[in-house]
Amino acid sequence: MRKIMVLDTTLRDGEQVPGAKLNLYEKLEIATQLKKLNVDIIEAGFPASSAGDFKAVAEIAKKVGDEVMITALARAVKNDIDAVYHSVKHARRPLIHIVLGTSDVHVEKKLRKTREQILEQGVEAVKYAKSLCPYVQYSTEDASRSDFDYLWQTIEAVVKAGATMINIPDTVGYAVPEEFGELIRKINERLKNLNPDVILSVHCHNDTGLATANTLAAIKNGADKVECTINGIGERAGNAALEEVVMGLFLRKDYYQATTGIVTTEIKKTSRLVSALMGLDVQVNKAIVGDNAFAHSSGIHQDGLLKSRDAYEVIHPEDVGVEDMEIILTARSGRHAVKNALAKVGFTNYTDEEFEKIFARFLDLADAKKEVYNHDLYHIIQSTVKRNGHGAGVNDLYELVDMQVIVNNNFPSASVKIRKGDEMLASSNMGDGAVDALYTAIKEATGIHLDLLEYKLNSISRGKEALGRVSIKVRHDNGKIYSSKAVDTDILKASALAYVNAVNMAIVDDIVSKQEEEVV
Ligand code: KIV
Ligand code: ZN
Repeated sequence: MRKIMVLDTTLRDGEQVPGAKLNLYEKLEIATQLKKLNVDIIEAGFPASSAGDFKAVAEIAKKVGDEVMITALARAVKNDIDAVYHSVKHARRPLIHIVLGTSDVHVEKKLRKTREQILEQGVEAVKYAKSLCPYVQYSTEDASRSDFDYLWQTIEAVVKAGATMINIPDTVGYAVPEEFGELIRKINERLKNLNPDVILSVHCHNDTGLATANTLAAIKNGADKVECTINGIGERAGNAALEEVVMGLFLRKDYYQATTGIVTTEIKKTSRLVSALMGLDVQVNKAIVGDNAFAHSSGIHQDGLLKSRDAYEVIHPEDVGVEDMEIILTARSGRHAVKNALAKVGFTNYTDEEFEKIFARFLDLADAKKEVYNHDLYHIIQSTVKRNGHGAGVNDLYELVDMQVIVNNNFPSASVKIRKGDEMLASSNMGDGAVDALYTAIKEATGIHLDLLEYKLNSISRGKEALGRVSIKVRHDNGKIYSSKAVDTDILKASALAYVNAVNMAIVDDIVSKQEEEVV
């Protein structure tokens, strides 16, 4: 089985996304996580672009460059190459990455030179870089739109000048998988004859959504190394997403006969970190790392999954560090999914007639609320079958009755009214912002303290009736972490409901654990 090297360029090509600029500490945090993910090479920046970028690359090389190779980008000019060398040299294995165009539009229109002049510039740049550092990568920018003979002439010349890696970029996302695969096959064949130690790499952009497909086609045709970013971020429509390429190989190693050294269980965590620090949301249906990537909402699918996971799941969420597959109870969920959820909250002993009542009530609630959670099932059990013994915890659950939020620049404040069984609890509080004030008020009213770790707001419908979904992740005092959601047309109300849901999840969890302990 071939081992494919993975270069992550989240901190270089990824950072080119407008508005995604990171500070030094954020870059170091991402680089540290990329090391945990076990990427082979981190492209840490473009040091000639600013003093800040130079410093960030140098710090990453010093702090993270003990095992992982560190590189940075240079145009084929002495100043850029010096800046790269002096920033990456602190790493145990530094790599200088030089880029220069090979397509006619780059050579003639962008660089305004002849092919011969550009070839000579590239060769001189490699020779200079090689005098500083043993590892040099040469990228033939816009390779997929270049004349093949000139492209090969360039590759041959820069390899003879000392380049140790040849990177073939599909700079503008022009390639299609069959054609790109064929290009890589031809280059690979010649390169292996010229110098079998030189590594052949690809770098694909996603302008027509083909970056992952082109990258995988290149691997199939002999590429030894791929360049990717986390969540597929990057210039314009972005780069090949690391998680997609890696999991594509993971799933179909039989076909590709290739694998990577990536610790796949670190994928989700890395995706979250990059998204949070760069302020770039991951689309909910994004392959591998989107919120819905392992969530099943169709009744037919839920039924199939509960019978056998591989009916609708080819990659297990645990493989990429997602806690578990998620079955979202909605009006489209069938009886099987609802029975499964009832069992999860410890309720299995009911007659068919009782279940039908529960199911009818569930459908009403799902229509009204859109999504139904475990603690909602407790309420349903209590209000439909009124079983003594089970649902004993229902009086311990909280329900948001009313809330008021005052938003102003100085003292945002919130008041909440919350019901717990027959008791009505109220609290008013101030906070750093509207959501903070709300959460502080709910904490005080319920006496249950959950630390907010993550807060996400998505719009799930359009127009006047726009529904907002708030997803939060909280840590209970006992260390347990809960992820909860709520949907409402009012995003502050959705925020409050998500928090109250998390409180109820913690309570239900406690009740179910106690019941399980009693059974044992
Ligand atoms: O897209 C591109 O061509 C690049 C090169 C620097 C590899 O980002
Ligand atoms: Zn690029």
